[in-house]
Amino acid sequence: MNVMTNPVAFDVVRIREDFPILKQTIRGKPLVFLDSAASAQKPRIVIDAMVHAMETQYANIHRGLHWMSERTTEAYEATRDAAAALMNANDRSEIVFTGNSTGAINLLAHSYGRGVLKPGQAVVISGMEHHSNIVPWQMLRDAHGIELRIAPVTDAGELDMDAFEALLEDGKVGLVAITHMSNVLGTITPAERIVKIAHAHGAKVMFDGSQAIVHRKIDVQALGCDFYVWTGHKLYGPTGIGVLWGRKELLERMPPFMGGGDMISSVTYETSTWAAVPHKFEAGTPAILEGIGLKAAIDYVQTIGYDAMAAHEASLTEHALARLATVDGVRVLGQAQDRGGVISFTLDKAHSHDVATLLDRQGIAVRAGHHCAEPLMRRFDLDSTARASFGVYTTHDEIDALVDGIIRVREFFQ
Ligand code: ALA
Repeated sequence: MNVMTNPVAFDVVRIREDFPILKQTIRGKPLVFLDSAASAQKPRIVIDAMVHAMETQYANIHRGLHWMSERTTEAYEATRDAAAALMNANDRSEIVFTGNSTGAINLLAHSYGRGVLKPGQAVVISGMEHHSNIVPWQMLRDAHGIELRIAPVTDAGELDMDAFEALLEDGKVGLVAITHMSNVLGTITPAERIVKIAHAHGAKVMFDGSQAIVHRKIDVQALGCDFYVWTGHKLYGPTGIGVLWGRKELLERMPPFMGGGDMISSVTYETSTWAAVPHKFEAGTPAILEGIGLKAAIDYVQTIGYDAMAAHEASLTEHALARLATVDGVRVLGQAQDRGGVISFTLDKAHSHDVATLLDRQGIAVRAGHHCAEPLMRRFDLDSTARASFGVYTTHDEIDALVDGIIRVREFFQ
């Protein structure tokens, strides 16, 4: 395949060499992988870091007094430094490792929700959340007497900022928990404005950055937010490791989420005391190898640079939107001004599952369904969409292959 028509100075051909999986053919066709928003492919450097650890320096961490344990602890803890630097955290102890974004949000809902928020207070989420940023708050509402308020989404797929502000006016909102980039619409939410409004009304702010961290440089101090969560596997890292960043003074006020080894200072049968943050929130043997792999992924994206990644993605998105607009019967969901490389669409007369299946026959991988965002689907009177999402390795030719593939699917249904 001729992969290069990218006008931006970004060597995608070179970058593709870093991802062994992309060399494959699927059903006799070159793999066109357009499902990176679900989980991104892994560069060789991540694979090698994990294999190298298993082959040369592996033991349990934080508890061994032997060489292997010390080396593995150093390698794992280096990821905390890398994550802190990636997000411009004030202190490495503000990085709490979790299993994924879902784990981070559940930790927050349980610990901040039950430990700090008081019954009668409210949590505001938006109408474009992933289920992982809806269900934990519903569980908190039902267990702890917290009101759940939903900030609506406009027809263009943006947050209705006037309605959002109105939800905060009675001063009862203790926490705003909103996506920084929709996994369905690609919409980037106006994070600084959200923080300004929320703080003016006495509410803390958590952003779900699962998608945004792949596409934008995240600086939590510049954003001014209080919590920020993301997951490693969408940032070209392994599954099983995610991050909850929180302001240290807030993390210190929060009770532990899970009890067990590694999170205590001392244990008697009568009582236990807790380790300092972040270890207070990291009970049990963590995802050691995945943590080591995540450091390699962070190094990888830092080496490419967010400016280059964002420019490449903007070019891909512009190209995709322009080409999709020429295909009869295609409707793109959401027209946000500020958006990342995630495009959901429907095709007249074809269910999105059929669209995805027929694209797969052409070697093109897209996601189809409700994308773990059923309320957002209902907002647009849909039950599902097909979704193409881009990564550092996506090419303009792959977008063309997608559009040509959709035209073939449309012909099939006609
Ligand atoms: N949250 C992931 C997605 O949007 C799984 O596909």
